[in-house]
Amino acid sequence: MMSESRIQKHPILSVDRTIKTVNFMFNGKKITAKPGEMISSALFAHGIHIFGRHKKDDSPQGMFCANGQCSQCLVVANGIPVKSCVTPVEEGMDVRSLDGLPELLKDDKVIKTGGKVPIIKTHVLIVGGGPAGLSAAIELGNLGVKCIVCDDKQELGGKLSLQTHNFFGSIRDCYAGSRGMDIGNNLFYKIKDEESIQIWVNSPVVGVFSDKLVGIVRNGEYVLVKPERLLITTGAREKTLAFPGCDLPGVYGAGAFQTLVNRDLIKPTEKLFIVGGGNVGLIGAYHALQADIDVLGIVEALPQVGGYKVHLDKIKRLGVPVFTSHTVLRAEGKDHLERVVIAEIDDKFRPIAGTEAVFEADTLLIAVGLTPVDELKKQAEEFGIKTYAAGDADIIAEASAAMISGRMAARKILLDMGFDVEIPPEWEEMLKILRSKPGPIKDFYPLPKDKDIYPVIRCAQEIPCNPCTEVCVLQSIKIKEPNIMGRPKFEGDCLGCTRCVSICPGLAITIVDKRYDKTKKTARVIVPWEMPEGKIKTGQIVKTSGMEGESIGKGKVIAMKKSKWQNRRTLVSLEVPFKETDLVAGIQIKEPLTKKMASKVKQSNDDEIIICRCERVTKKEIKDYIRDTGVRDINAVKAALRVGMGPCGGKTCTELIMRVFREMGIDIKDVAPPVERPFNQEVPLKAFLNQKKGKK
Ligand code: FES
Repeated sequence: MMSESRIQKHPILSVDRTIKTVNFMFNGKKITAKPGEMISSALFAHGIHIFGRHKKDDSPQGMFCANGQCSQCLVVANGIPVKSCVTPVEEGMDVRSLDGLPELLKDDKVIKTGGKVPIIKTHVLIVGGGPAGLSAAIELGNLGVKCIVCDDKQELGGKLSLQTHNFFGSIRDCYAGSRGMDIGNNLFYKIKDEESIQIWVNSPVVGVFSDKLVGIVRNGEYVLVKPERLLITTGAREKTLAFPGCDLPGVYGAGAFQTLVNRDLIKPTEKLFIVGGGNVGLIGAYHALQADIDVLGIVEALPQVGGYKVHLDKIKRLGVPVFTSHTVLRAEGKDHLERVVIAEIDDKFRPIAGTEAVFEADTLLIAVGLTPVDELKKQAEEFGIKTYAAGDADIIAEASAAMISGRMAARKILLDMGFDVEIPPEWEEMLKILRSKPGPIKDFYPLPKDKDIYPVIRCAQEIPCNPCTEVCVLQSIKIKEPNIMGRPKFEGDCLGCTRCVSICPGLAITIVDKRYDKTKKTARVIVPWEMPEGKIKTGQIVKTSGMEGESIGKGKVIAMKKSKWQNRRTLVSLEVPFKETDLVAGIQIKEPLTKKMASKVKQSNDDEIIICRCERVTKKEIKDYIRDTGVRDINAVKAALRVGMGPCGGKTCTELIMRVFREMGIDIKDVAPPVERPFNQEVPLKAFLNQKKGKK
């Protein structure tokens, strides 16, 4: 029997109800997992969030990135320390907490190295099988160019597989209106049988070398690839924040959360708090609500959120409070997060005393932006390999932009190889649009006064999106501006076909039908709905909410139907009074939580802020060292304090150390960055033995 922490119903994802399980041991206790599941997910499914204790100070260690980028989730599996987030459970596996340093295997013995490392030649090596890499491979495969697409994960698709929501953009250029996970599958199917393309999954690239070879551990065995050209589509890693308690289990990245919830269907928390109001944080809140997780609030340091207004409105309608000009002061708890303290900040981002509020959350997601994974690109360029980059590894933007940039990079490669192709200027234009920040918020277009049936389009901000204009059968929805950043306007007639309600990625369109009951003066309002089954039922009287979550009144659910035009979206028909029809934008399923002011707040000090979580080095230690020595070289700080020298290779803390320099008033331009050397990823040493098959 699977435990309670697995999601049993989800509005978008199908729940695998097969009872097939594998068994493994954790600290001597038998535990079940789903076949192929990562150890960390199986532990979370059983409510185990503390995976071990740190060698330096015995502090509890748990999940942080769920992406193989950090090392906080280390456990010992069959005697060998492994990252539990990228190590699948095997039947009968003996998993133990890593408490302190791991011990050498008792029966360790000398193994003879095998033969020579194979060198494989290819026209193009694509590193990273996400939206950019797959889109590039499709272009190259179409012309029969020999490519290898390699990825460190077990499946291609990158972060698309975690994106259960509908994409913005244009239908023609980047599948707008479809869900990210479906787009990932589509892209994969386009290359999977392509003869000129080899797909290498479970194959991390560990380094690029001066002899123009690329080292890859392909399914556990080391190989070298000699590409004529190298395309880096390695995506992005999440930025993080340093505050007291940021290292507690229960504080982790939004990407880790999406992995647990949307890939593995684990319910890792009951009460969630989020820091960061960009699209990632806002969508994270929406995904949590879809998994029936209570979102207590979101804080954003800026006066406005950076994400799309339609994403913001959508979660406010569902009752999530968003606190702008606020920050997280501290995360508190004994061995796990128990509460989050937030405070308002002034225009210099300083907390304002007396505004502290406390939320009893067991999980805090950090969603404060992304940074390109571009180490390999820099190394390859240094060694003179013909190198290209696309997607987030080049410029951080939405996945829709990554797809176009992948196609453009492929065309550039083809041109450089002498193929007779071109990069259409409209692609360049579309990429620019898709990479642009959301524009200003404007007024709505006035609603028609003389119609009985019409859509209400609550798209007040300029964002790159046009699916509603493309699906309208009567072509009554148009963007007047010269490109898809403009706001859609309804003029003409409406058939009430609901295609626009079904496709709008922002869930920002409702249909008003005043023909419903003219004698009672009630209308039918059709709203899009993607929440778990059972939250509302036909016949129920529900509270209705306006565009930004304000209470409007009450409505009766008169019908709930799966949309014909959009997989897994429900269209809910509400009966509402005439005077409220244009205002009703959604259904309130919970009252927003109000702030509970904190009676007493512990003052923070730099001693309790961990900057390097692998080596447990505090902000105070780093500041003292910089101040005492006057050093301006991050490598010197590393050598002295071991920051950045833990198993994650500084991927988590380097940016935080740079921020410490900045906070001390030191110009970052004067600080020497860390020297990047292979290996870029940790892989077992055994991989370099090149043993003959079947030998131990
Ligand atoms: S956090 Fe891993 S080396 Fe610093």
